[in-house]
Amino acid sequence: MTTQIQEIKQYFITNLKNIDSLEALKELESDLLWKKWKLNDILKWLKDLDIEQKKEIWVLSNELKSFILSEVEKKEIEIEQINYTKIESDEEIDVTLNFESKDKWHLHPISLTSKILEDIFISLGFKVEDWPQIEKEEFNFDKLNIPDNHPARDVWDTFWITDEINNSKAPWEKVLLRTHTSPVQVRTMLNKELPIKIIVPGRVFRYEQEDARHTSNFYQLEWLVVWKGVTFWDLKWTLDTVMKKLLWEQTKLRFRPSIFPFTEPSAEVDISCQLCGWKWDGCKMCSGTWWVELLWAWMVHPKVLTACGIDPEVYSGFAFGMWIDRIAAQRYSVSSSRMFYQNKLKLNEQF
Ligand code: PHE
Repeated sequence: MTTQIQEIKQYFITNLKNIDSLEALKELESDLLWKKWKLNDILKWLKDLDIEQKKEIWVLSNELKSFILSEVEKKEIEIEQINYTKIESDEEIDVTLNFESKDKWHLHPISLTSKILEDIFISLGFKVEDWPQIEKEEFNFDKLNIPDNHPARDVWDTFWITDEINNSKAPWEKVLLRTHTSPVQVRTMLNKELPIKIIVPGRVFRYEQEDARHTSNFYQLEWLVVWKGVTFWDLKWTLDTVMKKLLWEQTKLRFRPSIFPFTEPSAEVDISCQLCGWKWDGCKMCSGTWWVELLWAWMVHPKVLTACGIDPEVYSGFAFGMWIDRIAAQRYSVSSSRMFYQNKLKLNEQF
């Protein structure tokens, strides 16, 4: 009987060598162990043996069973490996081919402009803040001194998140797509230690009629400085330095008084249109006025500081907001910001 067990083992080993498919392997396994189980015959004869022989055969046949199972498993891995290698060589793609292709990658002009701005600000010691684009009404409006029913809310035509979500929320908890990056001023003042010196590049959304200068989603860059004795002078110096680094020498700046609920005093800053160079009355970017509204700024309103737990008697701050899209359009002479959102590779490939 021991010889019969040996024979079965030999039979298994010889057959296993020639097997090259998973199907044939399964067949051999079930032949020996499950379907006919040649070992069964041996076990049938066990009853005629004495106890010592029974033990011996029992142990041997179980050893054989474990041997078969483990060999089948090894073979299975081997066959799979061979199959994968075959697929790999049949379907090989040389990813290094045409690596020197003229199709280089390109950054989108808005990302490019954003990176340039970030580099300028980082060199001046600013930190970059990033927050979600879905914002609470409280941070987008209330804490910026724009309470519910304030007429200034109309300036920021808002995309609200669906009623199913907002109806169950308290008024200040209601959520919207942020209309500007200014809520990050609030979040930073509430969460970070003073002094604050940050920039916030980010995507914002407005329910706008689209034209050359307006799109319903665009990118702003906000900057905020809060510390003791921050004055108008610091603000002018920063603005001057950044603009000199960002635009070219001939660029002229124009300041106009303005009103924002969250800055006091407030101003708008225009730059001379780089696109038409003060020459073309039909310019879509400046509508022939030769000036492009570029940024909004001035001192943080004491009410906003108070709402964020900062004592306006001790600390002061200044804030700016600008549209990255408009700067990109000016830098690269793109006649309409809308082009940035049309997914045309031809545009990207130029940068
Ligand atoms: N958040 C304002 C807007 O989007 C711009 C702004 C930023 C004004 C910072 C003043 C200070 O219109």
